[in-house]
Amino acid sequence: MRRNIVAGNWKMNCDIPQTYELLDALKEQDITDEVSVIVAPPFTNLQSANQALLDTEILVAAQNMHQESTGAYTGEVSATMLKSVGVEVVILGHSERRAIFGETNALLTAKVNAALENEMTIIFCFGEELSDRKAGSHFDVVRQQLEEGIFHIEKENWNNVILAYEPVWAIGTGETATPDQAQEMHHFIRNTLAEVFDTDVSQDVSILYGGSVKPGNAKEIFGKQDVDGGLIGGAALNAADFTAIINAFE
Ligand code: 13P
Repeated sequence: MRRNIVAGNWKMNCDIPQTYELLDALKEQDITDEVSVIVAPPFTNLQSANQALLDTEILVAAQNMHQESTGAYTGEVSATMLKSVGVEVVILGHSERRAIFGETNALLTAKVNAALENEMTIIFCFGEELSDRKAGSHFDVVRQQLEEGIFHIEKENWNNVILAYEPVWAIGTGETATPDQAQEMHHFIRNTLAEVFDTDVSQDVSILYGGSVKPGNAKEIFGKQDVDGGLIGGAALNAADFTAIINAFE
């Protein structure tokens, strides 16, 4: 059975004092236990965040990692390093990593493999640009990102994968995909998984929607049959808003 999941991608926001402040505020909220909650602060705050959340069910994720375990890769952080500070979840393939840092599907394949070899859970992100949607090629683009980035993994590894559909045109823009557009794409993804793998994989994987999810629109988006939660950017930086999004599942 797939889980409902709400994950907060903090991006490059919050230093250590702000991290404690946000997590303390989050811990004071009344959060439904029907949802798995994940927060992804910057690298420098992962260990502190993990310790601050030890007495909760909230998991801490990294926003990226390198595919090698050690070596001459200045500025990079590996899966083993993340695990050594208690981080077991990693976001891979975010559109900002793809667009700003040039991450390709081939590179993401290597990162996916490294994460799985280290028994980490992956939140694998993908989604089309506005030009793709206008050209009507959004299904093809998404299928290609999945095929080239993650469809090489073995069936049993899907237990460690969460998918996050994030249409690039909806990220940080205040413009969300309509609930029907989200459902249409999530349904397409599930059908594709059934075709390439089988119905166990397609029915058990959680598929999150990301892109301008707010307290005011979460319930309608999460109410769609194939939407199992959200990957939240801006609204995850406010404890009350993030909680309202999580509790949209109640
Ligand atoms: P916003 O919720 O700010 O649009 O960001 C979405 C996102 O990129 C989460 O990874």
